[in-house]
Amino acid sequence: ARDPVRVLVTGAAGQIGYAIVPMVARGVMLGPDQPVILHMLDIEPAAEALKGVKMELIDAAFPLLKGVLATTDVVEACTGVNIAVMVGGFPRKEGMERKDVMSKNVSIYKAQASALEKHAAADCKVLVVANPANTNALILKEFAPSIPEKNITCLTRLDHNRALGQISERVNVQVSDVKNVIIWGNHSSTQYPDVNHATVNTSSGEKPVRELVADDKWLNGDFITTVQQRGAAIIKARKLSSALSAASSACDHIRDWVLGTPKGTWVSMGVYSDGSYGIQSGLIYSFPVTCEGGKWSIVQGLKVDEFSREKMDATAKELMEEKSLAYSCLN
Ligand code: NAI
Repeated sequence: ARDPVRVLVTGAAGQIGYAIVPMVARGVMLGPDQPVILHMLDIEPAAEALKGVKMELIDAAFPLLKGVLATTDVVEACTGVNIAVMVGGFPRKEGMERKDVMSKNVSIYKAQASALEKHAAADCKVLVVANPANTNALILKEFAPSIPEKNITCLTRLDHNRALGQISERVNVQVSDVKNVIIWGNHSSTQYPDVNHATVNTSSGEKPVRELVADDKWLNGDFITTVQQRGAAIIKARKLSSALSAASSACDHIRDWVLGTPKGTWVSMGVYSDGSYGIQSGLIYSFPVTCEGGKWSIVQGLKVDEFSREKMDATAKELMEEKSLAYSCLN
């Protein structure tokens, strides 16, 4: 039998935490043959709730779940973990300045970076979900210099999946027949959902989305804003932010990273920029990537038109501003 993989979920007593831990325990993240040990971290005010989640995990009798740790001790939580899903963070509350939220999260991610660096498995793969996701991941990277930079990513797969969903509804096809949309940039409303290379599998072969949706006004307008604003639409409807879709997309992100993307298919991941597509290196930016053998690589050579260029640069600019705001919080 395979050795269990240790999966850390921070913020595990929260909404996304509650949705994702059963997915991990059922093999949705790492496959039906991979046993797991869950490490769940939250903070003191949520300690009782976290105990309750642990009780439910035991009660669900998941065959793949070989152990559950529920703790408020960050060192204990990080020790020996192979996968770290960072969902815990400080939410923006009414009346708070952007800088105050940033400052809280920068100090959380700085501290957790050190704990991961010292105590996680050497090849630990990190996915940051908590907002501001790209910048939290960047801080984590800066303060965990011994973790390879390729191992630190942030979640834009939810945005990617939202884009697939919008196209499938519009063209009236199964979502699994749509592929190769791209989310460029920040996991924020400046992200650029790009369909210029996306295709749909039809009975007469693979067709470009641009050909099937012969409505550029929609593709360049409402489609983009719907994906950008989807998080806000969920909050409006549910009075709570997206949780099941975030949890499911986080599982998709890790699964494809570890087990590989299907041939001819790419996904979107927030990764450390190497300067590809003229995006300043040193930012965590969402790119189209393929994964193989546990490694991602940015898809190269896609044509970028003027419309796209402008949007890709605008979201990069926002990330540079977030980066300098984050650094000003450190001082
Ligand atoms: P939530 O508020 O229900 O849960 C957050 C949990 O984190 C709470 O249990 C809280 O006690 C815990 N926490 C706070 N500080 C912590 C720390 N220092 N260490 C460990 N745990 C800590 O929030 P929810 O809905 O689960 O969302 C979590 C985060 O994910 C938010 O930042 C949200 O904005 C973000 N998010 C990101 C998405 C993405 O696509 N990247 C999509 C949806 C949400």
